[in-house]
Amino acid sequence: MSASLEHVTSLLTAAFKLEVTSVVPLGGYLGQNFLVTTSSDRFVLKGFSNDAHTQAHVEAQIEAIKLARHLMPDTDLPSIIPSQNGQDICADDKTLWILQTYVGGDLIGEGPAAQSELLQSVGQVVGMLDRTLQNFNHSGAVRRDMEWDLADALMYRDYTDLIEDPESRRLADYFFLQFEAEGFSRLSKLRRQFVHNDCHRFALKTDNLRQHVTGVIDFGDLTFSYRICHLAVTISDFLTGQDDIVSSAALITGSYHQAFPLSEDEITLLCDLVGLRYGLYLAHAARMRREHPNNVHAQSKVTDVEHNLRRLIATNPIAFGDALRASCGFETLNRQAKAEQLVAQRRQYFSSSLYTHYDDPLVLSRGSLQYLHDSDGKSYLDCVNNVSQSGHCNPHIARAARRQTSILNTNSRYVYAQMNELAERLLSYFPDNLDTVFFVNSGSEANDLAMRLASTYTKGSQFIVLDEAYHGNSTASTDISPNRIGRPGGLGMPNYVHRLMLPDAYRNVPPGFSGSVTDAFLAELPDLIEKTKGELAAFVAESLVGTGGQFPFPKNYLNTIYAAVRDAGGITIADEVQVGFGRTGDMWCFEEQGVIPDIVTMGKPIANGHPMGAVVTNRAIAEAFDQKVVYFNTFGGNPVSCATALGVLDVLEKDQLLKNVNARAHQLLEGLDALQRKHSLIGDIRGRGLYIGVELVVDRATKEPAREEAKRCVEAMKSRGFLLNTNGYFNNVIKIKPPLIINEADIQSLIHNLDLVLSEIVV
Ligand SMILES: Cc1ncc(COP(=O)(O)O)c(C=O)c1O
Repeated sequence: MSASLEHVTSLLTAAFKLEVTSVVPLGGYLGQNFLVTTSSDRFVLKGFSNDAHTQAHVEAQIEAIKLARHLMPDTDLPSIIPSQNGQDICADDKTLWILQTYVGGDLIGEGPAAQSELLQSVGQVVGMLDRTLQNFNHSGAVRRDMEWDLADALMYRDYTDLIEDPESRRLADYFFLQFEAEGFSRLSKLRRQFVHNDCHRFALKTDNLRQHVTGVIDFGDLTFSYRICHLAVTISDFLTGQDDIVSSAALITGSYHQAFPLSEDEITLLCDLVGLRYGLYLAHAARMRREHPNNVHAQSKVTDVEHNLRRLIATNPIAFGDALRASCGFETLNRQAKAEQLVAQRRQYFSSSLYTHYDDPLVLSRGSLQYLHDSDGKSYLDCVNNVSQSGHCNPHIARAARRQTSILNTNSRYVYAQMNELAERLLSYFPDNLDTVFFVNSGSEANDLAMRLASTYTKGSQFIVLDEAYHGNSTASTDISPNRIGRPGGLGMPNYVHRLMLPDAYRNVPPGFSGSVTDAFLAELPDLIEKTKGELAAFVAESLVGTGGQFPFPKNYLNTIYAAVRDAGGITIADEVQVGFGRTGDMWCFEEQGVIPDIVTMGKPIANGHPMGAVVTNRAIAEAFDQKVVYFNTFGGNPVSCATALGVLDVLEKDQLLKNVNARAHQLLEGLDALQRKHSLIGDIRGRGLYIGVELVVDRATKEPAREEAKRCVEAMKSRGFLLNTNGYFNNVIKIKPPLIINEADIQSLIHNLDLVLSEIVV
């Protein structure tokens, strides 16, 4: 409860003998601050709760202010006015009061964003303050539980769960994760001292010219911490409103370094600490929203902080660190040489079949949600990743994996909760008759096992697949992958595998065709069924052709095939390795076709990059397999994989990823349609959800594949910071399959840059 104005006025009169003309409450996070005016002067009265712990801290603040006033005579700092009985602190029942002179000038935050000179002055004043306090000590206030001390941030991490907006929650938590994983232990080796810890835009004053910091107003967050945390607090706040966050951070850091030299280790940590400060702010804001919904002050920076977080996560931490190091005069490291060495070693140790994407292989140093950062300081929006579907290093998932790694990892011959829990939750997304799970380690293994299940159950040996399909790299899954084994240079399709025409509505439907596309695509089906009669094991297909070129199926397509296959004694396998887990806007892509497969295989996004796969089927098929063979999979279903996959399901649900997929897919398709109207190079756009193919052709009439142009497009997009790739029979289809957490601004800039690149490509 705040003291009443009457109480404050009578205190000022009685204890400080002031003839007060007005007392106005000042906004504050939690404390009680009043602007006090007399006929000749202005003061600030600050109230703190009256307990021994706080008293010690207030005494420390007063001593720190006195020291700073002594050592920083050019900076306007408050002066403490003793009460009539000569005490700096005036106590009543509930409150400890200190009266201080009013620091003149304008709060920096009340004007436009600081220009370079002012940013440098900020760095210098913060450096001088830290230098001033470097040997400061106060026996009564060695430390206080400071909710804003970054060194203690992990105590407050759980509050990120209260952040309502999924993207903000993820961003905040990402920087907590970095701190948990690495930052904390690196920080603990750095220099500690008392720090002001709250030099932000509304704690520093300037004059009309806005070139220099003229004063510092508040020592209420004084704490014993790492001085680099203090600098991070300052930088994080002063980036608000700045167009170039890296240069602005460098200006502040460089001038701090001149006032009070930093070590390289301190500088390296700054990027993540700035992010951590944003995360901590949002965590506390979310807590305050719940506990003190009327405290608008606690929410005042949320929008700015969210904006800054979105910019920081897209910034390459190496580039950030290098700019800061350079501003302090440290030598820039030769990262190019290191990257070249890594590429050379790759060639030395591995077969050429392990080729890399892009003309210049991308040497990566870090992934942050939808962004990838190379070792050379450049960042990319990852538009072609259906594995890290919930974002690179998604904090919730990474933490689930880390936690389980530290508790228990074993194999499925033992009983543990994680495997059961995952099975239960995974099965809840399937129709009731799909009730049994096998956990494996990859998509290939899942398809392999699915083939064995099918053969055992049906006693058949023949498989029907789609032309240009890809189902994996094991011997069996390669056999059913015409995209590999059936291509020129491949071993040739084995005779137990039969290909059905690729349902390519762009190329495989003759011009002027007016019949049923499904019938046209399935013309050869009766022959294949006849050919495999009595021996058919299964029809295997993705529920939308992926590697073959992103082809969705026409209406009734899978229904018709499934019916014919089952009539012939075979079963149906849906490969959801690429298209499952929400990629196409439904949890499973087969849902759109209105079918229920007998077996579903999963992989890639199931554990967001952790190697895992799964096969779901019905009990009868699973039991038939059990009667024939002992099946043991050393790693399949281990507790760590299961905990990680549970994390994926949590994120999918809590972050409402399907909702985002549908919104972003709509935006993406609208943007691509506009590009198609403008650029004749785009022959066809197809796909579903965030699984889109853009087929480039030299000539729309002849549909001559623009293979070279597609490659140039991908390379040009890469140099603009967007990762894309090609697939399809002619390698002329640009595939777009970003992490499902991609946001509106990302899609906008993807479309904008694609537009520019397509304009530059001369056919
Ligand atoms: C549709 C499909 N199935 C199976 C696989 C094989 O998965 P993995 O590489 O995890 O073995 C892939 C991989 O690209 C795939 O795209």
